[in-house]
Amino acid sequence: EALSDLVRSMPKAELHMHIEGSLEPELIFALAERNGVTLPYASVEDLRRAYAFTDLQSFLDIYYAGASVLQTERDFYDMTWAYLERAHADNVLHTEIFFDPQTHTERGIGFPIVIGGIHRALTDAQKEWGLSASLILCFLRHLSEAEAFATLEEAMPHRDKFIGVGLDSSERGNPPEKFERVFARCRELGLHLVAHAGEEGPPEYIYTALDKLHVERIDHGVRCLEDPVLTARLAREQVALTVCPLSNIKLRVFDRIHDHNILELLDAGIAATVNSDDPAYFGGYVNDNYVALFESLPLTRDHAYRLARNSFAAAFIDEEAKAAYL
Ligand code: HPA
Ligand code: ZN
Repeated sequence: EALSDLVRSMPKAELHMHIEGSLEPELIFALAERNGVTLPYASVEDLRRAYAFTDLQSFLDIYYAGASVLQTERDFYDMTWAYLERAHADNVLHTEIFFDPQTHTERGIGFPIVIGGIHRALTDAQKEWGLSASLILCFLRHLSEAEAFATLEEAMPHRDKFIGVGLDSSERGNPPEKFERVFARCRELGLHLVAHAGEEGPPEYIYTALDKLHVERIDHGVRCLEDPVLTARLAREQVALTVCPLSNIKLRVFDRIHDHNILELLDAGIAATVNSDDPAYFGGYVNDNYVALFESLPLTRDHAYRLARNSFAAAFIDEEAKAAYL
């Protein structure tokens, strides 16, 4: 009880959240109505009932369908603002937000509309609450290298609005090295680099994300524990893992929250962090993820402080800002 209050109230950073995954069913219906889109669901409840996932792909199919209601700059603003209100309520002081431009440009929505609406909400949150927020552009790994390069081209006129690139979508069969040349280019451009690896995919994908893409953090990465050499390396090099507990349960990476390996990761000396991934789809925002862990596993106050410190230590913020948070 006291521990749940502590984890809820402590200042934290969120480093793994897909903005399209913050689109609540109520907002999906409101935007569908505003834009004259007919949804293949009769009601909010009917849509929510469809959120019965068996693996990553079964989630992605619904997540991309949900995003199809986003059409105008204002839609992207409203979605982002709704997330930022929730993050602020959870005592998030800094957030690094993924967005999937290809999900929208493929439907004919212009890149400037997407990034413009999202970025305007970040500016307002900074003004309103001093909440610091940055954007990370994710390439969809089920698409081609050429499509990723084309998206990077479209993004470059907006270079001042995002700080890095990531890699998301269907992991198995789409290893990090598929995007080695794209990430090399992004590295030359001075962008921060992250990639989803070792969520459903094998530890091998964590190695190639590190050694071929040169990423600075691994998103998920929970399967690293299958490889003791990799585990020791992640701890030694203090490569942060952005872990998403409720996501892992919903997508059946672990059967139950009691089976989650966050305590083993921390005990191995790994810089694990707690994040919400796709909060509208997985049953909660970042504090819900912390509370689920602290209510189910023998985690202590020290673990709580470590997780919060890890979240700021792994953030892409200047050293002065970091020192102030730590
Ligand atoms: N994994 C891969 N792609 C995603 C995820 C995820 O957890 N969430 C949104 N896109
Ligand atoms: Zn993710």
